[in-house]
Amino acid sequence: MTSTAQQRLLWRHVTVFDGIQTLPEPMAVIVEEARITTLVPMRDFDDDHAAGCREMARGGVMTPGLVDCHTHLVFGGSRADEFEQRLEGASYAEIAEAGGGIISTVRATREASEDALFEAALPRLQALIDDGVTTVEIKSGYGLNVADELKMLRVARRLGEYLPVRVVTTLLGAHALPPEFKGGSEDDSDGYIDLICDEMIPAAVAEGLADAVDVFCESIAFSVDQCERVFQAAEKHGLPIKAHAEQLSNLGGSALAARHGALSADHIEYLDQAGVEALQAAGSVAVILPGAFHTLRETQAPPIAALREAGVPMAVATDANPGSSPLFMPTLMLNLACTLFRLTPREALAGMTAHGAQALGLKESGRLYEGAPADVCLWHIDQPAELAYAVQPGRLRQRIFQGQVTTEASHDA
Ligand code: NIG
Ligand code: FE
Repeated sequence: MTSTAQQRLLWRHVTVFDGIQTLPEPMAVIVEEARITTLVPMRDFDDDHAAGCREMARGGVMTPGLVDCHTHLVFGGSRADEFEQRLEGASYAEIAEAGGGIISTVRATREASEDALFEAALPRLQALIDDGVTTVEIKSGYGLNVADELKMLRVARRLGEYLPVRVVTTLLGAHALPPEFKGGSEDDSDGYIDLICDEMIPAAVAEGLADAVDVFCESIAFSVDQCERVFQAAEKHGLPIKAHAEQLSNLGGSALAARHGALSADHIEYLDQAGVEALQAAGSVAVILPGAFHTLRETQAPPIAALREAGVPMAVATDANPGSSPLFMPTLMLNLACTLFRLTPREALAGMTAHGAQALGLKESGRLYEGAPADVCLWHIDQPAELAYAVQPGRLRQRIFQGQVTTEASHDA
């Protein structure tokens, strides 16, 4: 990492996307001690501002550091074989029902040591960082017992200590029914929910390992009633909640999550108008995950027009995981959100900055304003829409995390 401690860093003539919109005129930006201390139009910029500054660049597009608000980056093994099975016609749900899918990753994750999971996740996280991410959420959900869920969350925390990125952790114990609770017609899914509520959540809270709690509300996972019990346990421990909901069918998981004041409902391809209104009333974010839609070749798109009409904030994330979205390129998601779901480039970019941060309950991140944390990216492009328009690695010119330059493209150095 290039050390810039105590320095004032200056950019001139940058086009600024502030997390919601592109500012109308070229700006000057100064970063000092991990904050953006100056954000002024160039016409108001004078030599007094520039005094004592290190000039970083002139021109280009500056955005808040990207916020990937939904990932499953920590996992063991690979599911390339299932990718092939799906190409031969098997569906995601069929593979899951036959003991593959999430459960095959659970087996590999349980077998892996904390160090092995950490080493495997590092290059995945580095790929996100190299594409501009400064804040990432990482879920558990492939341990499905207390020890292995905590192991995953510890790895997530360690990743955030090791690499220059803010990691927000989410306990997703209610991701799938673990094999030891399966018994053919005698599945004990309520017993597993008891374990999550009575042991897993308290243990994660005791170690300070979870920033939020998530569930998978789906016919192949957990019912609305079971998810509600998990939410109640999370609430008891003061943890915010989120839900994988309406991904493959409409069970009403989003409306349930909204009733519990969820930060977000994620996937939501099958969300209906009542669900849209529930999210709107609760102020929850709709997290759009085009990577899973693309990978699973889904055909039902989320109700973008209705969400837009209702003013529900939409976030966009990678859902990076070994099964439904083995895609570790956030800017590709901006492109897919536009091409597959007809978001505008502005909406997509807001979805991976301001609204991504909102989906994590982060008040200050994902926006670029005077006083904001200095997590910013400078891109080799002329206008913000290009980030969604082209799929082109290598456009990240400078990445600043907590006021420190962490990436500087060699042709600028
Ligand atoms: O967000 N929907 C459930 N969970 C993940 C998939 C995880 C997996 O297939 O391993 C998702 O798509
Ligand atoms: Fe997910």
